[in-house]
Amino acid sequence: MKITAEHEAHYREHGYAIVERFCDPDVIKAALANFDEVVPGWVDFAADPGSAPRPEYYGKPFPDQRGIPHFPYKGDVLNDLTFHPELRRFATLMGEGEEMYCEQSHLTYKASGQANFEQAHHLDYSNHTLAYPPNVPKYWQTAYLYYFTDVTLESGPTAVCSWKHYPERILVPSHWTKEDRPELYDNEVKVTVPAGSLLIYSMRTFHRGTAILGENHGRLGMFVTYAPKACRWAGIVGWPVSAGKREFRAWIERASVEERTSIGFPEPGHDYWTDETLDGVGGRFPGMDMGPYREAVGKD
Ligand SMILES: [Fe+2]
Repeated sequence: MKITAEHEAHYREHGYAIVERFCDPDVIKAALANFDEVVPGWVDFAADPGSAPRPEYYGKPFPDQRGIPHFPYKGDVLNDLTFHPELRRFATLMGEGEEMYCEQSHLTYKASGQANFEQAHHLDYSNHTLAYPPNVPKYWQTAYLYYFTDVTLESGPTAVCSWKHYPERILVPSHWTKEDRPELYDNEVKVTVPAGSLLIYSMRTFHRGTAILGENHGRLGMFVTYAPKACRWAGIVGWPVSAGKREFRAWIERASVEERTSIGFPEPGHDYWTDETLDGVGGRFPGMDMGPYREAVGKD
């Protein structure tokens, strides 16, 4: 489970990196079991959409955040992968040390016969920032896509295009059709990888979802994106909308200080923490260890 110097070099040159087998087999197995808790039926359906019962696509339990299942998830594995130390480390490295927070963790699940998943090449900044992603590392958001199932040419691989093929200074518009910008399509790389692999890309990297071909293919994954904490204009969601959920409370209570900080929680030593806020947060989340926050009060 490591993003290596080679991955980093590839990312810096091309704007993306593919980390094969980032997750060990036992983690993939646990992630799939957890996936099935969150969207029941989808693990079996994605494995065999030709004959397994067809579950609902985006179920009604997720009315916030575009209907898509998102952090915090039931269970622990998908939550833990969202805050995997390597993801946080690499986003911080790319941001030249800027403090990062997690601005997205969404599941993605696709299968034959369900919809046309063919997308145009696009940059994700159109719904990840209010502004524009400059070519300045301290403003860089880093996006990750975990694949929990094998990705073949038939199962709707992500296609990604190297920075080398769009050297223009200003990346507007953020979408190009094949007719208007064929070189993006001609030079794309289809991310066909074994289960447990990870795609890393930037808000300045053209990519697209491709169609699932044939009758019996599926793909399960999870998007996770980190953004510089200082950029109030960045982020696909606002987490507080979900803070009333039971899963959110459970996660807050069991998370490490670093994980909480990674979702935007005030860190120990922040002047937010007073007798009032320590008692207020402790009252709201009775299972949370307030020790690190109490101990840091007045030490800054
Ligand atoms: Fe995208």
